[in-house]
Amino acid sequence: MSEKITSKKFQKMKRQGKKIVMLTSYDYPTAKILEDCGIEAILVGDSLGNTILGYKNTLPVTMEEMIHHTKAVTRATGSVLVIADMPFKSYQIDVESAVQNASRFVKEGKAEAVKVEGGREVIGQVRAIRDAGVPVMGHLGLTPQKILQFGSYKPRGMEAKGAKEIIEDALKLEKAGVFSVVLESIPKELAKIITEKLDIPTIGIGAGPHCDGQVLVLHDMLGLSEFRAKFVKRYTDLKSSIEESVKNFLKDVRKGKFPAEEHTYEMGEEELDKLKDCLKLGDADISTSENA
Ligand code: KIV
Repeated sequence: MSEKITSKKFQKMKRQGKKIVMLTSYDYPTAKILEDCGIEAILVGDSLGNTILGYKNTLPVTMEEMIHHTKAVTRATGSVLVIADMPFKSYQIDVESAVQNASRFVKEGKAEAVKVEGGREVIGQVRAIRDAGVPVMGHLGLTPQKILQFGSYKPRGMEAKGAKEIIEDALKLEKAGVFSVVLESIPKELAKIITEKLDIPTIGIGAGPHCDGQVLVLHDMLGLSEFRAKFVKRYTDLKSSIEESVKNFLKDVRKGKFPAEEHTYEMGEEELDKLKDCLKLGDADISTSENA
């Protein structure tokens, strides 16, 4: 197994100028592939609401759904840092429930860190979760759990006033003890200022090249989601590959081309004779030739 990545290692990587690579995963097989590829971190994002559960946004995602998927990811991994996203209303209500829910991710999901969205309004929760022994990642800029308040998925911090607030929030989060912060959909100039001001690493998604690391939603970069945004680079088109394979399967089955000989089990002659005797069948009754 490769070296274990911890939240402390994240900070060391920033000091060494090494880029941190994070992707989302919600299941065993993709988590295994991602770890084998050598990325540093997996985020079990609440984006699973849109990407795999078919919700309109991330707001309906529950703790039970998040823990279910976090368990699948941690069963597959050993060396990457697994960060579980705290879903809407699992931490905003009060500090006690925030600590309780963060602890469930560690105890039941075997996650090694949690992520919360927001700045000044969640400082109490960040501090309490961190004090309870759970490393916390922050998330600023376009925070999808505020979609009803924002009204759209447009970038944030494009104007000086909003940008200044995001900088202040980043500093407050660092002071409260987050080990890293995701910056989503903000201009590159703002991301650069924040990255230079903070000792902890920034992980960008739609925040330009100056962040200490980058994250993408796996389903977006593999071409498996409908989501379109300027910052998503599609590295492949898995939707088309899947469609092509399914259509070929459909054709093969309908034409009797599948299963072929190599996909089929065959009984030995001796056992087949015994079966025929036992069932009092003739050769014609059990002929498997095409013309039978
Ligand atoms: O839920 C998620 O996948 C995220 C990423 C967009 C950072 O929060």
